[in-house]
Amino acid sequence: MKKVILTHRYHDEAVERLRREFQLVIAANEGPDLPAVLRRHADAEGLISFLSDPVDRAAIGGLKKLKVIANFAVGYNNIDIGCALERNILVTHTPDVLTNATADLAMALILAVSRRLVEGDALVRGGGFTGWQAGLLLGKELDGSILGIVGMGRIGLATALRARACGMKVVFYTRGPKPQIEKKYGFARVTFLELIRSADVVSLHLPYSPSVRHLFSRDAFALMKKDAIFINTARGPLMDEEALAFALENNELFGAGLDVYEDEPAVNEKLKGLKNAVLLPHLGSATGKTRRAMAMMTVQAVRQALSGKKPLHLIPEWKERLRNKM
Ligand code: DGY
Repeated sequence: MKKVILTHRYHDEAVERLRREFQLVIAANEGPDLPAVLRRHADAEGLISFLSDPVDRAAIGGLKKLKVIANFAVGYNNIDIGCALERNILVTHTPDVLTNATADLAMALILAVSRRLVEGDALVRGGGFTGWQAGLLLGKELDGSILGIVGMGRIGLATALRARACGMKVVFYTRGPKPQIEKKYGFARVTFLELIRSADVVSLHLPYSPSVRHLFSRDAFALMKKDAIFINTARGPLMDEEALAFALENNELFGAGLDVYEDEPAVNEKLKGLKNAVLLPHLGSATGKTRRAMAMMTVQAVRQALSGKKPLHLIPEWKERLRNKM
């Protein structure tokens, strides 16, 4: 049986399937030091990783037989793609199945921040609700306001459609043109500067790479409207957490809703102390249905790759490589 390493336990059904078809090693059961566990299983041919696992040159250097890395996430910035391509190791991810769950969460954060849901919940639990008041926890209305989507991929579009149902107008920023989105939905593509200056809510939906580290910097936050809302369900390093905390503390923004952080699981202490920040523990894809589908996709990817087939959900860099070979 071929050896497959799963870094942490996940959906039971997927684990059972893996056990039936492969010699399965659950790395977390063997200790917290993943690179050390990987070194002990140098004959592994498949690796199923979590977004929190750094799968870099050093970690996989000893896995000379490795043929596939199946990331249990749609984002794969935890993997050294250059190294995987160099070594001809296939890399897959889990697109589509988590689009709705993640867009729901982005919309939930937009609503939570604009209507101050967490502050209201804390007030009631703390015994501070003493009766209806005309000025209690006034929020912002979404109808007629502008949502700026940064990165109009699957999740960006699904979020935009949810926001449209709340009466929001949508503009978006992408590096390349998206004429079909503009034509089909009437959403306008604008420059990054136009977006951050005009949007009432800015929501991030782009993949992370070092070229977009701190895209949201002190300068970017300063250019946003003074009562704007900032939402990040994509990746933490897209924003400078310290700069965001400064903007929120100094009322340069109305509020922020975050599901991701620069250095997870650490969260900037200043952000934790701010009432106008809603902070979630990376729950974007966290529904039972979605997590099951993601796990099954990783099983399928490993099965396909280790039986010599082309996995269905290769990352774009791999698809491009195969296109160029044709
Ligand atoms: C992903 O899959 O990249 C998401 O961040 C998971 O919630």
